[in-house]
Amino acid sequence: MATSDLSVGEMAARAGVPVSTLHYYEAEGLIESWRTAANHRRYDRSELRRIAIVRVALTVGVPLKEVKAVLDQVPRGKAVGKADWARAAEPWAVMLEEKIALLTRMRDQMGYCIGCGCLSLEACPLYNPDDRLAENGPGPRRWTGAEEERA
Ligand code: FES
Repeated sequence: MATSDLSVGEMAARAGVPVSTLHYYEAEGLIESWRTAANHRRYDRSELRRIAIVRVALTVGVPLKEVKAVLDQVPRGKAVGKADWARAAEPWAVMLEEKIALLTRMRDQMGYCIGCGCLSLEACPLYNPDDRLAENGPGPRRWTGAEEERA
């Protein structure tokens, strides 16, 4: 075994995920392993970066299909550099900016109304008399920016 390779238990411990998660990620084509002569699974240490990206991306709501699409662009079988990762992540730039804007709006607006209770007609993002916003479509329309897009 090469020194950089990890057993499945070592990989799970280092990545902070259960062994079953490693098996799932592998079945989905997100990570790869190889087998020893004794048929023991081994992971190259570089797979840790892929797992980290998967975990963070899933945490912020990036669908697994999109995570895989990015990881598929990162070359295998050679040293992967910063430029390789940057090129693979390019398609995420707009999507991540939209998520950041949504989370920022949610943070700002939630804090705005907590403990207030005014439901101001001009300023309150929760103000929705007679549920009039339902006529424009479903969901949290002000928080998602759907109402601004209509204006
Ligand atoms: S309840 Fe006062 S601004 Fe929303």
